[in-house]
Amino acid sequence: MSRTLWTGDDGVLRTIDQTALPFERRELALRTVDDCDRAIREMQVRGAPLIGAVGAYGLALALRVDASDGALRRAAERLAAARPTAVNLRWALDRVRERVAAAEPGLRAALAWDEAGRICDEDVACNASIGEQGARLLRALAEQRSVLAGVAGADALALNLLTHCNAGRIATVDHGTALAPIYLLHAEGVPVHVWVDETRPRNQGAALTAWELAERGVPHTVIADNAGGLLMMQGRVDAVIVGCDRVAANGDVANKVGTYLKALAAHDNGVPFYVACPVSTIDPATPDGASIPIEERSAREVTHVAGALDDGSRANLRVVPEGSAVANPAFDVTPARLVTALITERGICEASSAGLRAVLAAGSQ
Ligand code: MRU
Repeated sequence: MSRTLWTGDDGVLRTIDQTALPFERRELALRTVDDCDRAIREMQVRGAPLIGAVGAYGLALALRVDASDGALRRAAERLAAARPTAVNLRWALDRVRERVAAAEPGLRAALAWDEAGRICDEDVACNASIGEQGARLLRALAEQRSVLAGVAGADALALNLLTHCNAGRIATVDHGTALAPIYLLHAEGVPVHVWVDETRPRNQGAALTAWELAERGVPHTVIADNAGGLLMMQGRVDAVIVGCDRVAANGDVANKVGTYLKALAAHDNGVPFYVACPVSTIDPATPDGASIPIEERSAREVTHVAGALDDGSRANLRVVPEGSAVANPAFDVTPARLVTALITERGICEASSAGLRAVLAAGSQ
């Protein structure tokens, strides 16, 4: 299966317009920094790692027009502001800036384009490794549950995992983070079934996670966001596995709003709660969850639901009375104490300052 972000000899960046999914697989050409900025802000591309990769290419496209120090700084600041919670965007922009900083202006755009390509290649490798690391954990759970032995019972024929939002292939350059181990187990023939939270207000679960699981033939069931607690109480969830937009230095994690409630329910019911992310999502400069900026998005995402009518035409339907006040925080923070473990490309670690320090140090050896 191909990558979600690709370039050609024409110097144009191409991706899938995620606002058209699951109804249409529409390609999007990004030719300028404006195109990249718009695609990130309007969530045509989304998911922490993919946002970072598009931001990096956006900076390269800006440098094609003006490669001065001032233009580099302005473009980086503008792109970084497009989605404030996911730290991968700032991380990728910083990487490109560092790569080009000492170069003369005439060489900068090409260097930045090359660095963006490296970020993409590394993302693919990271996520493949997250898949391996997470699959080890999930295989062990499957063995405990005797899923592999095929013990009889209501949900006993599959390992039941619950995920929130979309941390799959299309949130990254390839493989995904939270979904990467699931794809591996499925490919190995381990029976897996995924409970997919719809993920209001933008429905990334219902629209995107369900779409990509279906594309791979992974059994799944879409549920309303509020159903997960009951399913956990009924013993129908073996583990929760989600992606992440930023891990603070103390192990608190920010992810799509609603994640925290799933973590609380998992904790109350003794269900393991795993967070899968590349090391680039760890932000040692942010001390704790309270310091993570939470993106506040448009009220329209709450007042209206986007979908397709029975005749296939697209529609935005109002579901909130005119005049009601609306708030739309797009992310929430799950305290470290509710996270069973982080799954990174460098291994499994505790969500704690010591655990994070160890995993960060593992890369510098
Ligand atoms: O607002 P979104 O759709 O960009 O939010 C995405 C998430 O919260 C993902 O779980 C996170 O970015 C990890 S993606 C591998």
